[in-house]
Amino acid sequence: MANQMAIEKYEEIINGNQIDCEFDIMPNYIYSKENEFKIFKEVEAAKRLGLPAEYTKETTLPFAVKAAVRFNHQAQFHPLKFLDAIANKLTIYEHTRVTEVRDDGTILTDQGSVKAKSTVIATHYPFINVPGYYFFKLHQERYYLSALEGCYSKHKASLDGMYLDADPQGYSLRNYKDYVIFGAVNHRSGEYKPKDAYQRIEDAARRYYPEAKIKYIWSNQDCMTPDSIPYIGRYSASTPNLYVATGFNMWGMSTSMVSAMIISDMITGKKNEYRKVFYPRRLMLSGSRKLLQSAGIITNSLISEHLKIPRDNLKDIKVGQAGIVNRSGQKYGVYRESEDRYYYISTKCPHLGCSLEWNQNELTWDCPCHGSRFDYRGRLINNPAMRDVFDACQRKKK
Ligand code: FES
Repeated sequence: MANQMAIEKYEEIINGNQIDCEFDIMPNYIYSKENEFKIFKEVEAAKRLGLPAEYTKETTLPFAVKAAVRFNHQAQFHPLKFLDAIANKLTIYEHTRVTEVRDDGTILTDQGSVKAKSTVIATHYPFINVPGYYFFKLHQERYYLSALEGCYSKHKASLDGMYLDADPQGYSLRNYKDYVIFGAVNHRSGEYKPKDAYQRIEDAARRYYPEAKIKYIWSNQDCMTPDSIPYIGRYSASTPNLYVATGFNMWGMSTSMVSAMIISDMITGKKNEYRKVFYPRRLMLSGSRKLLQSAGIITNSLISEHLKIPRDNLKDIKVGQAGIVNRSGQKYGVYRESEDRYYYISTKCPHLGCSLEWNQNELTWDCPCHGSRFDYRGRLINNPAMRDVFDACQRKKK
C-alpha cells in the first residue's frame, strides 16, 4: 500500500509541475515459470490488502509461464529527468563529503561545517557505524542487466508492462523506447560466483530474442534487509534528530518516495500510518542469529582459497584475471592487466576488515560483509568503506 501511495505521489508531482520524464502508467507482473500456487497465494494476499492485483496466465513474455499476478496502475519513468526537474528548485552542494555527524546537529564536511535541526542519512548504505549498527542488519546484492535492440522486428509482440520473476534468479523484462531491458543473475556482493553473469544474460537473450543485439550491459547494487522491508525513520534511539532511509531491496524508486513522505511527516510532527512498518530498530530488538548471518559478521570471511596462486608465481595469473599471492607473509590481491602489468591491493576491507573477493564480471574487488567495492587498482567504488584499499601508484611489475 505504501508503494502504491508513492506512485500516486509521483503522478501528482509530475503532473502538477509538468515534468517531462517519460512517466508511463502500465501494469507490473510478477510471474512464475514453475509455481502456480505461489502466484495464486500472492494474488489472494494482495487482494486482501486492497491492491489492484489480478491472477492471469496471459502475458506478452517471449516464454511460457505457469501464472502471473498483474498489478494495474503501476508506472515507469526516467528518474534522472525527474531529478533534474526537482533539483532545479533546490540548492545542492555537490562534491562535499560528510566526515562526521555530531549529536548537536553539527555536520563536518571536507569543505567546512554546517548545523542542522534535522539530518537525513540517505547515502545508499549508512556510513555511520555506531550508533545505528546498520552493518549488522544490511548486506548488498548485485543484479546484472542488458539493453537489447531489435527485439520486435518480426513475430514478437512488444511487452505490455514490466515483468519480474518471483524467483530472484529469474529474468526481469521491460521496454524502454525501442529496447528491451533484460535482467538476470543476482548474487550477494562479494560472492565470487557466478563468474559468467554477462554470458548467461547473452545466452538467455539469444534464446528468447534471437534477432536482437545486445547494445549495453551493466550491473547495479542494492541494500537488502533480512526481512525484505526497508529501514525508514530515526537512525537510532539516541539520535532524535537524525533519520535514515536505506535497505530498499531493489524497490528504490517507490521506496525513496515512501521515505520522503514518512521522514518529512516525522520532522514536521505529522502522523504517518506506515512509520511502524519501516521502523529501523525492529530487528535489533529481536536480536536474531539470522540477522548476524545476513550481515556477514559471522560468515567465514577468510581469504579466498580458490584465488590462491600456487607457488605465488604471478605469471600463473591470466591476463584480465586476478589471484591471491603471498609476499613476505602478507596476502595480496593481484590483477594482471597485460603481459607485464600487475595491480596489487590489500584484500582487507577498510570498512570493518572482512576479506575482499574478486568479481570477474566487473573486474572489481567486492566485500562479502556489507558490499563495499573497489576497482582493480583498489579505488573505492561503493560504500560503506570510505577510502581506497591501495592507491593506484602501488602497481608493480615483475
Ligand atoms: S564492507 Fe564492511 S567490512 Fe567490508
